[in-house]
Amino acid sequence: MQKAYKPQNNPPRVLVVAASPRRDGNSWRLAEGFLEGALGAGHNAELIFLSDYMKDFLRDCRTCRDRDFRCTIKDDYRTLFLEKVLPADALVFSTPIWWYGISGILKTFFDRMFCYVAFSEPNSNEYAERLQWKRVALLLSAEESNFSARLAIVHQIQEMSRYLNHTFVGVITGIGNRRGDVGVDPLHPVDEARKLAGRLFDINATDYKLDTERSASVWEENKVFPGSWG
Ligand SMILES: Cc1cc2nc3c(=O)[nH]c(=O)nc-3n(C[C@H](O)[C@H](O)[C@H](O)COP(=O)(O)O)c2cc1C
Repeated sequence: MQKAYKPQNNPPRVLVVAASPRRDGNSWRLAEGFLEGALGAGHNAELIFLSDYMKDFLRDCRTCRDRDFRCTIKDDYRTLFLEKVLPADALVFSTPIWWYGISGILKTFFDRMFCYVAFSEPNSNEYAERLQWKRVALLLSAEESNFSARLAIVHQIQEMSRYLNHTFVGVITGIGNRRGDVGVDPLHPVDEARKLAGRLFDINATDYKLDTERSASVWEENKVFPGSWG
């Protein structure tokens, strides 16, 4: 039986992570839209700028840890990870597309989670347990609107979500280059980010298999003829 993806906090805690060095850029604008939607839905939501917390790459943990087995990189990643990431019910990553991948700092954010779940960290079991069972959403800003430009990123987040038992609930892409471009994207990605936030804990992630026992209807509201495929 699969564990239920239930928020642990009431109201649910949502951490929106903005991962461009441009503080007022396009991915930041998408992140703000998401934040507005999450607050509007009554969630306990916070938007953070990743560069405020992180200054360096992952190193070799065998040589980097101090006598208490703690990471010795002198920045605020530890605070971010322990006080904001682990307690969150949902993690929302907002990144520009850079060379068909995520931004370098977001990649480093993921890399450095390793330091806390590696066997050499005395609390790794607790941290690994608390890192799982969250909802995840992805906000992308990019110059190119072709779908294939974002495939590798979506695949990466999908695989990470599978590995961490996260529920990957959606992707919003805003097209733009100059600051503010996503605000005039005719597909209204900022509004879409706001709407996605409102449905963050309601989205029905239907990872059915052929032999999954299930009703013929995905939605409760439409369960009029149980068992019918019509
Ligand atoms: C280093 C770098 C690499 C980029 N690579 C891509 C790319 O591969 N595909 C794309 O569509 N846009 C690419 N862009 C454009 C940005 O994704 C785009 O300008 C985005 O809106 C910037 O978001 P920001 O304002 O949040 O930084 C790149 C920009 C930079 C600075």
